[in-house]
Amino acid sequence: MIPPRLIYKPGSLKILDQRLLPHKTAYLKVGNAKETAKAIKDMVLRGAPLIGCAAAWGLPLELTFKRPASWASVRAILAEAVRTIKAARPTALALFYAADRMAAKAETYLARQGAFSAKKYKRLTALLEKEAGAITGEDRLACAAMGKLGAGLLKKNSIVLTHCNAGALATMGIGTAVGVITKAHKTGKIKYAYSCETRPYLQGARLTIWELQKGKVPSALITDNMAAHLMKTAGINAVIVGADRIAANGDTANKIGTYALAVLAGYHKIPFYVIAPTPTIDPALRAGEKIKIEERSSKEVTFINGRLIAPRGVKARHPGFDVTPAGLITAIVTEKGVIKPVTGANILKNLKKTL
Ligand code: MRU
Repeated sequence: MIPPRLIYKPGSLKILDQRLLPHKTAYLKVGNAKETAKAIKDMVLRGAPLIGCAAAWGLPLELTFKRPASWASVRAILAEAVRTIKAARPTALALFYAADRMAAKAETYLARQGAFSAKKYKRLTALLEKEAGAITGEDRLACAAMGKLGAGLLKKNSIVLTHCNAGALATMGIGTAVGVITKAHKTGKIKYAYSCETRPYLQGARLTIWELQKGKVPSALITDNMAAHLMKTAGINAVIVGADRIAANGDTANKIGTYALAVLAGYHKIPFYVIAPTPTIDPALRAGEKIKIEERSSKEVTFINGRLIAPRGVKARHPGFDVTPAGLITAIVTEKGVIKPVTGANILKNLKKTL
């Protein structure tokens, strides 16, 4: 079993510290929006859907911790908390989706209130706790639905490859891409799964292969530069990844290295699947070049486990994500269905579906 990722109690959020996995299970306790945002920024937790859920819990936490005396100060507290949370990481849309949805929920409540009272303020906090719970519950259900739909796309005896961590650790449910793999494994469809180590942050080596091992999926870890060779020689017949943000035309931002895998999959005529819940789709962004790519510290490239591996003083780049053009994606699976072929019109149709 993968340990719980987030444990909320009024006044505190315990976050499974993914920086210590797989060798140590420990939790970091946060008590307000600033601490929640810092935990997101510092990668205590990561993965687009999970970032969104943590962001949502950050707002009731902030209200529990503050003691305002007017609705004007409540609005100011909320606005500042939303701003802080949104500044944590730029690429995953789930973070912005959750923060905006929580802010809208609060505003609907505030617009109906007369004079301020501590009792009404408590009610607002409870309302936001309920909304964060709803976001979390929806993510869990979306993962289950995508697992089923994605597994349905795979052939018996599939040999699959995944990148980064799009598993339970990246969500509140069974995961997106890894959820598909574990679900397909349960129905006997997976012969073998490969996980790329995912330089420089090693989400694949530390998290995904651990999840696959725990799920008893026959699997092996590879370094990122082995992917071409294995696509050519190991019978890989599906590449399955998650996503952080999908533009209106289907261009998809995911962990750095995903684009290279999509190009390789195209060359080897291997289907390339993106598994992502609808809060990942950004209809306001026409195409992928508009997606903001997080540039992380170069130290994450030049150091491994606190040890400098490159010449002292060397410059290094660290874009955390890249964008795969829609044309290289065989299908996008959301909780609402399978988008194939990946076109703007089909994405819109999927978004409009009701569950
Ligand atoms: O930097 P991370 O670890 O937050 O990046 C995670 C990824 O890129 C995942 O593939 C993506 O969020 C999909 S998670 C279901």
